[in-house]
Amino acid sequence: MSIEELESIAQAMVAPGKGIIAIDESTATIKKRFDSVGVPNTEENRRAYREMLLTTPRLGEHISGAILYDETIRQATKAGVPFTKIMLDAGVLPGIKVDLGAKPLAGFPGELVTEGLDGLRERLAEYAKLGAKFAKWRAVITIGDDTPSGTCIEANSHALARYAALCQEAGIVPMVEPEVLMDGVHDLDVSYEVTEATLRSLFGALYEQNVLLEGTILKASMVIPGKDCPDQVDVEDVAEATVRCLKAAVPASLPGIVFLSGGQSDEQATAHLNAMNQMGPHPWPLSFSYGRAMQSAALTLWAKDMQANFAEAQKTVALRAKQNGLAALGQWKK
Ligand code: 13P
Repeated sequence: MSIEELESIAQAMVAPGKGIIAIDESTATIKKRFDSVGVPNTEENRRAYREMLLTTPRLGEHISGAILYDETIRQATKAGVPFTKIMLDAGVLPGIKVDLGAKPLAGFPGELVTEGLDGLRERLAEYAKLGAKFAKWRAVITIGDDTPSGTCIEANSHALARYAALCQEAGIVPMVEPEVLMDGVHDLDVSYEVTEATLRSLFGALYEQNVLLEGTILKASMVIPGKDCPDQVDVEDVAEATVRCLKAAVPASLPGIVFLSGGQSDEQATAHLNAMNQMGPHPWPLSFSYGRAMQSAALTLWAKDMQANFAEAQKTVALRAKQNGLAALGQWKK
């Protein structure tokens, strides 16, 4: 795999008007989503649900890639067609979550560090054979009275950078995701400060580990007040603070930035992305890599009647993809 190939995959991930659907929930996380709509968390239900999402007609119109979980990348449709073939035929790049989850950081109560570097070279080689073109590693930064610590930010940045270097060695584009959580009472300014410090640390670590930025995608959290902050702000304020923060901390050579939805409503996630793009042009395309904000409507419909609502659920996936695709161009209208 050449440098040019990594660059062209990264650019395809953020092609104009396109973004990513994150369907890489671990078995424990999809259980929470299934529990909320009364679906038993069996392997067959997980497979059937992902089949519904991935076989959405014309998914590739507004979706450039989908992030899968280890179990999902090995699965196939009921008719036996591998999901990765369905995706390639639809023009949707297969991505794979490769971290093994955020675990308590010893010595730092309430903080997390993401694990999964041991054996990662071998796992990436296998995922490349299975068809993965990009990967994801999510670090979690928690805002509290005394957090995040510099140690937590640095430990996570170091792991993200080592992961990214291993991905590029395997010919896989790393998506680096340092998620600053929306949980808490912190205001917009605190979210800005923590996000900027996290991004500065991350890009320093990527530089130290010789990661090629031109073959890397940032998955960022928006600069937004905590869910329980009494001082909520307008869409334009979130958009302005997020763009300002990214401009302060993210090198212009990065091919693109995609956002997680992180607990925002579907409409909020779309409106924020749209407002940011209306403030452009920016040094990088700004697009989406939403999980919940792409899937929640579809999950609710599908759970009510998996057979009868199959096509209706797919229509909501297509609609959310279209709306977020328009928001990636700054052309969405409420
Ligand atoms: P949400 O959009 O639901 O936050 O999920 C995106 C994701 O992949 C988090 O790692």
